[in-house]
Amino acid sequence: MESRFEQDLSLRSKPVKELTLNEARQEAEKLRREIEYHNYRYYVLNAPVISDAEYDELFRRLVEIEERFPELVTPDSPTQRVGAPPAEEFGAVTHRLPMLSLDNAFNEDELRAFDERVKRMLGLSPSTSVEYVCELKLDGLAVNLTYENGVFVRGATRGDGITGEDVTANLRTVRSIPLRMLIDDPPPFIEVRGEVFMTVRDFELLNRQRVERGEQPFMNPRNAAAGSVRQLDPKVTAERRLDIFCYGVGHVEGISFETHWQALEFLKRAGFKVNPDNRLCCGIDEVIQHCIDWTERRHEIPYPADGMVIKVNQIRYQELLGTTAHHPRWAIAYKFPAEQKTTLLKDIIVQVGRTGALTPVAVLEPVEVDGVVITSATLHNEDQIRRLDVRIGDTVIVQRAGGVIPEIVGVVKERRTGDEREFTMPKRCPVCGGEVYKPPDEVVARCINPTCPAKLENWLKHWCSRDAMNIEHIGPKLIKQLVDRGMVSDPADLYALTRWQLMGLERMGEKSAENVISEIEKSKTASLDRLIFALGIRHVGARTARILSEHFGSLERLSEASLEELMNIPEIGPETARSIYDYFRMESTRELLEKLRKYGVRPSAVEKVAAPVESPFVGKTVVFTGELDSYTRSEAEALVQQYGGKVASSVSRSTDLVVVGRNPGSKYQRALELGIRTINEEEFLEMVKQAKGTMGE
Ligand code: IVH
Repeated sequence: MESRFEQDLSLRSKPVKELTLNEARQEAEKLRREIEYHNYRYYVLNAPVISDAEYDELFRRLVEIEERFPELVTPDSPTQRVGAPPAEEFGAVTHRLPMLSLDNAFNEDELRAFDERVKRMLGLSPSTSVEYVCELKLDGLAVNLTYENGVFVRGATRGDGITGEDVTANLRTVRSIPLRMLIDDPPPFIEVRGEVFMTVRDFELLNRQRVERGEQPFMNPRNAAAGSVRQLDPKVTAERRLDIFCYGVGHVEGISFETHWQALEFLKRAGFKVNPDNRLCCGIDEVIQHCIDWTERRHEIPYPADGMVIKVNQIRYQELLGTTAHHPRWAIAYKFPAEQKTTLLKDIIVQVGRTGALTPVAVLEPVEVDGVVITSATLHNEDQIRRLDVRIGDTVIVQRAGGVIPEIVGVVKERRTGDEREFTMPKRCPVCGGEVYKPPDEVVARCINPTCPAKLENWLKHWCSRDAMNIEHIGPKLIKQLVDRGMVSDPADLYALTRWQLMGLERMGEKSAENVISEIEKSKTASLDRLIFALGIRHVGARTARILSEHFGSLERLSEASLEELMNIPEIGPETARSIYDYFRMESTRELLEKLRKYGVRPSAVEKVAAPVESPFVGKTVVFTGELDSYTRSEAEALVQQYGGKVASSVSRSTDLVVVGRNPGSKYQRALELGIRTINEEEFLEMVKQAKGTMGE
C-alpha cells in the first residue's frame, strides 16, 4: 500500500508559490490520497505509520496549496472535514432503500423460534444449520452514507426509516468515515449503513466538560452521539469524539454480494470501519453460545452496545425471506438482559429536593454496570428502605432501571456480618436544620422551611431544565454560587441579573456571562406550558402543564381559576386541582408572579389544536415505556395529546396501547400480561403520520 504514496520529493520541496497550476493540481491530489490513507491508518485501523508531526506537515502543505489555488478545492478534500457554516435546518433525504428496524429476541427460546421460522420459510429441513453473522448491536445513531463513484456525497440520519435528515457536513467531521473509498474501482453508487457512536470514556469526558460549563449533561452515550450528529453547527460536531462502525449496505449499483460477510469484507477493504468482533456462525447453537459469551463480557465493551444483531448470511436467502413493513425477516436483535452487580452500600445520605422532599440516597462503592460507573442510587423514601430491609454496610444488588437510572433491587443478606447499621430519617432538614414534616398518609417527608437553600437550588435547576424554561449555561455550580451569595432568592431574580454581577463570580468571563444573560433573556418568551411546569406546583408535571396552558391560555386566567373549574378539566384529578388552586392562593406565589411580570417574562401561549375524529389516537389511552429514537418522552406524549389521545403513566386494563421503545421497563411485561396491544417506535411514527394526515399537515 505504501508504494502508492511514494513521495516525489522534487515536487514537495518546491515552495508553493513556485508551483504551476498543473503541478499544484497533481500534488494536491496526491496529498489528499496520502492524508486520507494516514487518516484511515489512524482512525480506522488504529495503527498509524507516520508521526503526528509528519501528518500535520502533509496537511499544512495541502492547506497552503488550496489557499493559493482555491479552484482546486474538492468537496472530498480532507481540509473540508471541518469548516462548513452552521445550517438553518437540515434538509430531508429519502433513502434509496428504506432503513428498517429490527425485531427483538429476549432469550434463547426466541432465538430458536427465529431460526425455525427462517428454515420453515426457506423450505429447509429443521436439521439444517443456517449461516448467521453475529454483530454487536451498537447503541448510537443509525446513518446512511451515500458514495458516488467512491466519493462521499451525502450522509443522512435514519429518521422514520424512509426519509432522514441531511447531516452530511456533520458526518464529514467524523474521522473514521472515509471521504473517498480507498479502492481503485469503486461502484458508481452505494449506500453504506452504520452506527455513529461515542465511546463510554469520551461520553464521560464530554459530560464532565458540559457540567463544568454549566450545560446539561447528556443522559447516555447514545443521546450524546445523536445530539452531536443532529447539530446545526458542524464545528460543534467536530469537537465531539464520534466514531462509526459500518454494518451493511443499502441500495447498490455496479456491484453485488453473495453473502453479508462478503459485503462486510468489501466495506473493510474500501476503508470503512467494520467491527472486528463480527463473527460468522454456523447454526443457531453457535449463535446462542456467542450471545451468551457476549452477555457475560458486555462490560468489557468500550462503547454502548445493548445486544447482538443476528443476520442470515446468504443474500439469496435474505431476498427470499423479505421484510415485513418494519423489519427484515432475515435478522433479529438479541437484547442483553439488564445487568445486575453487587456492591457495598457505604452510607445513606439525605438529599433535599425542590419541594423540600427528603430523599435517602445510597452511597455505593463504585461499580460498573452496563458500562457506566455507578456511585450512588436513590432509595426513594423510608418505606422503600424498610421494604428492602437495607442497612448501611450491606452488600446490595444494583441495576440500571431502563438502562439509565441506578437502583437497588435487593440485599445479599448472607453477606451480613452483624456490623450493619439501620438507617433512620433525620428529624431536621440536613441542609438548613429546618423542621421536617411527614403527613401521616404520605410516604415522603419534607423540609417545611420556605427559605431552605437546598430547595431553592433545586427549584432553580428545575426552572432552567430542558422541559421547563430550557435555560442553558446555568449549571449546578453557578446556581450554588448564586444562592450562596444571596444573589437569587427565587427564579424571578434570575431575570434581574446583570452581566457585571455574573462576572464577579468564579470562572465567569465576559463571554460566559453574556451567554448566560442571553439564555435567560431568551427564556422570557418561553411557551406558557413551560412556565407553568417551571413553577414547580406539586402534582403538575410537563403534561399537566400543557393541559392547563391549553385550557387557560394565560397565567392570569389560570391563577384566577376556581377549584370547581380546575376539577372540571378532564384528566386533572381532584388532588392536582386542589394543589393548583392552593398554589395560586399563596402570598408567595402572587409575589413571584408579580416579579416575573415586572422583569418582562411574557410566556407565549400554546394554541389548542382541535383533534380530528379520524386521528388514530382519538379516545385512546396510551402508555410509553423505554426510550424512543425520534422524540423525547415529553414530545411523544404531547403528540398523542395533540392528536386526541390520552397519556397514562402506568398500564392498566383501560390502557389501549403501549408504545415500546428501547430498554422497556416493567410496563412492557404488564402489557403482555394484560394482553394490551403493544407497538414499536416505527408503528408509533406511522400512527403519528396518519394523525398528521388527518389534520392536513
Ligand atoms: S442492521 C435491516 N446491524 O439497530 C437491518 N443494526 O433496530 C437493520 N444497530 O436502526 C439494521 N447495530 O441503529 C444492524 N450491527 C448492527 C447494528 C444495528 C446497531 C441499530 C441500528 C438500527 C437498529 C435496528
